[in-house]
Amino acid sequence: MIAFASLTKRFGGRAAVEGLSLEVLPGEAVALIGPNGSGKTTSLKAGAGLIRPSAGMVLLGRPGRPASDPEARRALSYLPQRVSFPDSLTGSEVVEFYRRLRDAPAGRAAEVLGFASLNGAGGRAVGTYSGGMVQRLGLAVAMLPDAPILLLDEPTAALDPDGLCAFYGLVQRRKQQGKTILFTSHQLGDAERLADRFAVLVEGRLVALLSAADMAARLSDRGVMRLRLDRRPPDLIDSLRAVAPRAVWAGDELLVPGPTAARPAALDLLRAAGVVIRALTVEEGRLDLLYRELVGGSRPDAPDLPEGAGPPPGARS
Ligand SMILES: Nc1ncnc2c1ncn2[C@@H]1O[C@H](COP(=O)(O)OP(=O)(O)OP(=O)(O)O)[C@@H](O)[C@H]1O
Ligand SMILES: [Mg+2]
Repeated sequence: MIAFASLTKRFGGRAAVEGLSLEVLPGEAVALIGPNGSGKTTSLKAGAGLIRPSAGMVLLGRPGRPASDPEARRALSYLPQRVSFPDSLTGSEVVEFYRRLRDAPAGRAAEVLGFASLNGAGGRAVGTYSGGMVQRLGLAVAMLPDAPILLLDEPTAALDPDGLCAFYGLVQRRKQQGKTILFTSHQLGDAERLADRFAVLVEGRLVALLSAADMAARLSDRGVMRLRLDRRPPDLIDSLRAVAPRAVWAGDELLVPGPTAARPAALDLLRAAGVVIRALTVEEGRLDLLYRELVGGSRPDAPDLPEGAGPPPGARS
């Protein structure tokens, strides 16, 4: 496990991370998300023992030992946000170098190069690699040691869809093996796919810590059912609001925002009112909008209605 205990890091007078307390347990993946400059990399660097906390500490393993202790750091593997390797070495040489450094068994090199799937470029100088190839190589190196704690700083930023798929599989396997995984990402899909919990950092402070179930429930709350009906009885919206308080007409469409669980009652009510449903679509809550709410960028109670979906002038609502 890794435990951030009231971690504060100041650069000059400015706090990059302030009072961060967070535990990531074995078998768990936590996504650290937040805007640029919110302190994600600084937190991971403190976890990797690369920067000294101004206050508080980061403990690795159980019993916890400070991340500044080189012996304790053997328990972790860290993928920096910006990876760089000597240009003149080949991908295979880079992997072999780090394999020896981390004392990993010989077979691991071929295994991680297989994951990196460099399309035969393992024998080419790293200086000739594309951005995504360097990132694949960085991930391969990070996966070399069988470390119980993985700290991955934007592991997917440059990956193509195949690379993403391979990465997701890899993290799932590591999780099943009981590894402790903390990663940052601006790709919210990564977080949704991999994370058991979401830690949201804003200006160095932890502003929200949500489980995957909390996140799913919040997204469900922000879902919208859209219906086209054969007609528009005048009192329909009032009776519908008894089960779906935010129901509203938007042009020809009836929008029923709210969680999945509320939809059957709304449909029953429509049928009981004798209207015929001509079309029905459902949009689940959008992760990007929820993220904006979490980081304070939008109104918490606004449903995720698409632009222009408000009721038209003069519409009864
Ligand atoms: N070595 C440093 N010296 C001075 N300020 C720093 C240093 N490292 C980071 N900072 C500042 O700390 C704050 C947090 O930076 P950090 O790199 O942790 O953000 P981040 O959340 O990882 O951002 P991004 O999403 O862009 O990667 C920023 O204001 C940054 O300018
Ligand atoms: Mg960063």
